[in-house]
Amino acid sequence: MENLQNQRVLIIGGSNGMGLATAQRLATQGAEVIIAGRAQARLDAALKHISGKAGAYTVDFSDEASLAQLFATLGRIDHLVITASSSAAWGSIRDIDGAALAKAFEQKALGYWRSIRAALPYLRKDGSITLLSGAASRVAIAGTAGLAAVNGAITQMGQALAKELAPIRVNVVSPGLIDTPAYDDFAPEAKQGLFDSIAKGLHVGRVGTSDEVAQAIEFVVTNGFTAGALIDIDGGAR
Ligand SMILES: NC(=O)c1ccc[n+]([C@@H]2O[C@H](COP(=O)([O-])OP(=O)(O)OC[C@H]3O[C@@H](n4cnc5c(N)ncnc54)[C@H](OP(=O)(O)O)[C@@H]3O)[C@@H](O)[C@H]2O)c1
Repeated sequence: MENLQNQRVLIIGGSNGMGLATAQRLATQGAEVIIAGRAQARLDAALKHISGKAGAYTVDFSDEASLAQLFATLGRIDHLVITASSSAAWGSIRDIDGAALAKAFEQKALGYWRSIRAALPYLRKDGSITLLSGAASRVAIAGTAGLAAVNGAITQMGQALAKELAPIRVNVVSPGLIDTPAYDDFAPEAKQGLFDSIAKGLHVGRVGTSDEVAQAIEFVVTNGFTAGALIDIDGGAR
């Protein structure tokens, strides 16, 4: 297991949900965690929940200039974790037109692509990159073809990049339904209804927590023999 003491880990998407849970875990291992996201207020609030060495920077990963500025400011990093997304491609193909799907790609898959490109000059030669995809790309569920397309792109780019960028270790973690602030916009009954209906189909009978995914991210970041892996943290969704 790699010792994270004094290792610098950048988490793009670290101000909320699974990214924040990852920051909390890695900071307790002695890492210097840098969380990045678009909203300064969310970053400030998140920092209060991280014990250890932590910093926060604003970035919009859909904007190459914003990413370039972030990395120029930070300098060297040892590990990159990308959890960010504001993608919303839920629904039938009948309701999602090409422009809506292109926007969903912009808000997730292309942001991952741009972030990796921007990070490479600054990333330790044998560091790691961890990407978050999603169970929609691993299980056939009606109404999730858009999510499947966006997350499938990440799963597949991760596999190829693991070969291309070695000895940087590239790994993909694929969450199932996880109770995070991503569902805060749902009406409470709609959210509970969604969670209950998904939970019924899972081996574990419940949806997941951010920390359960963060545990898998911690594993791939610190396990020096894990490269090109795809890890499903989905309660048995497949
Ligand atoms: N929750 C689930 O059930 C679930 C299931 C499968 C897959 N996933 C995937 O798992 C990952 C983590 O999900 P989550 O639920 O933890 O997300 P979340 O709670 O919604 O947090 C998303 C984070 O990304 C940041 N972000 C969004 N757009 C950004 C941008 N353009 N540039 C930089 N930062 C940006 C957000 O901060 P700002 O808004 O301030 O920028 C926030 O810190 C996502 O990739 C999601 O697609 C989630």
